[in-house]
Amino acid sequence: MTFVYNLVVVTHLLGMAAVVGGYVAAQPRVSELMVWGARAQILTGIVLVGMAESIHSLGKETNMPKVITKLVVAVLVAAFAEMGRADAKRGKAVPWMTHAAGGLAILNVFIAAVWH
Ligand code: HEM
Repeated sequence: MTFVYNLVVVTHLLGMAAVVGGYVAAQPRVSELMVWGARAQILTGIVLVGMAESIHSLGKETNMPKVITKLVVAVLVAAFAEMGRADAKRGKAVPWMTHAAGGLAILNVFIAAVWH
């Protein structure tokens, strides 16, 4: 099971690369890659917490305040990315929305690494 859990961690890191890399490469517009990365983070993050909480042999202890904060930030990232992408498709770039999504995604990387 540890292997499966670690594979989900890999997809979580690839999702982080998509949302942050997609932001840096396409700003001030929101790219499709960034939107998919933002969706992937919510999904893979919830799977990680679900596995950590239910599979005791993994030996994981969930820091609930931390993951709830990450979830709230990730939902904001996805919301700004979805709205910014819809505008980009109509030929309109809304830079503040793109930077809000990208900046909050980077904030979540800090929370992931610094909050223990
Ligand atoms: C934009 C959204 C997100 C970004 C950029 C992000 C980024 C990261 C990064 C960089 C790590 C690796 C940190 C480390 O190993 O020290 C990580 C780990 C983790 N993330 Fe996220 N995350 C996001 C959203 C979420 C969400 C929504 C949840 C849960 C609801 C979540 C749950 C976790 C968990 C449980 C781990 C620990 C994995 C482990 O090492 O066992 N993340 N995240």
